[in-house]
Amino acid sequence: MISDVIKSKFVELNQAHVFSFESELSDIESNLLERQLKDIDIETAQKLFNKKEGEYSENSVIEPIPCVIEADLTEEQRNKYIQKGFEIMKNGEYAVVTMAGGQGTRLGHNGPKGTYYVRVPETVSLFEIQCRRIKKRSEECGRNIPWYIMTSEENDSDTKAFFEKNNYFGYPKSEIFFFKQYMLPMLDEEGKLILEEKYRLKEGADGHGGIFRAMLGRGVIEDMNKRGTKWIFTCGIDNILVQLADPCFLGYISSNGYKLGGKSLIKRDPYEKAGVFCKKDGKPFVIEYTEISSEMAELRDDKGEFVYGDAHILCNLFNVEVFEKMGDKGLPYHVAHKKASFVNDKGIKITPEKPNAYKYEAFIFDAFAYYDDMGIFRIKREHEFAPIKNKCGEDSPESAEKLYLDYVAGSGKI
Ligand code: UTP
Repeated sequence: MISDVIKSKFVELNQAHVFSFESELSDIESNLLERQLKDIDIETAQKLFNKKEGEYSENSVIEPIPCVIEADLTEEQRNKYIQKGFEIMKNGEYAVVTMAGGQGTRLGHNGPKGTYYVRVPETVSLFEIQCRRIKKRSEECGRNIPWYIMTSEENDSDTKAFFEKNNYFGYPKSEIFFFKQYMLPMLDEEGKLILEEKYRLKEGADGHGGIFRAMLGRGVIEDMNKRGTKWIFTCGIDNILVQLADPCFLGYISSNGYKLGGKSLIKRDPYEKAGVFCKKDGKPFVIEYTEISSEMAELRDDKGEFVYGDAHILCNLFNVEVFEKMGDKGLPYHVAHKKASFVNDKGIKITPEKPNAYKYEAFIFDAFAYYDDMGIFRIKREHEFAPIKNKCGEDSPESAEKLYLDYVAGSGKI
């Protein structure tokens, strides 16, 4: 039996339908629903649903942001930064966080995206690819780099089981940590909670920007502070050329007084589906490809280069202080219109053909605007970017495997 306190709360919030099938539920199901109702952040979701205005103001002043081009560094600068980066890693002040809490809907793999296998040419999972690089750098530093993995409610246990089954890819288990990001309920077009089962409400991970709240709230920052971590590299799971411990990037950001940094690469064409770095009202910012005007996207300088061409590739470096501040503050949420299967009022499971639900997500790059400046470090696409987003075509396993193999053939170090 679900408690009356919970019932009246959800009735008052105009969500009485969540109890529609209560009489059909087993004790276990009823307990599951009650537990979910106790934890669910319906207030935030309703506030977001009722908020009509967009986050992005038409009156903002957008300007280009300066960046340093890695290939233009002198030998002397490069060596200085590499030495500094290694020093930080050897002192145990560096940690890596892989954000692997996404749903990977476009790839459609059955399981966490990190458990997907590519052929490069050996068959290896996306998690193992990242682990190999951390392991290699740790060996060079003579000290293990801690590796934190952000999961979500949906994929946490499968992710942990995969690591266990694969013996943590030969990296010490004591250096690998998992933490869950928070969830937000999805709402239908009337602002109602969605029953994905008669006893379960549909919730979604709160976006990669949820990393700040999750790291602070789940005790990761506390743990890092105990270990003396000062610099945190964050990336997604789906770029198989990501350099997770790049001493040059670390040396550059830490030597130049920045608290945060981002790697960039030049857009393939004006309409590549990637956000670009810029300044908005004087602060670092990333404009999403969906929000940039074609005039801005196509704008070139007198050397023929894109003025807004530095794409954000989800490879960022943060001083631990940023997590303390942003974890507390939290980021704005963006809304996405998605398909979510649901149980209708007759108890029948429906799989919609078009989007029927709102999902709320925070984006990691929204943290940038809370700082006056950040270091943008432009790298070569062919060295560090081979994303897997789609099942086939652009940014697919096939295209990423080819990029990986081309990089290795060009004597790139993996
Ligand atoms: P994407 O935004 O590309 O999402 O995430 P996705 O889950 O991989 O794929 P789609 O959009 O459902 O097809 C970029 C990175 O951010 C992580 C993902 O796991 C991926 O590594 N991410 C995304 C999270 O960790 N949590 C989220 O809530 C969203």
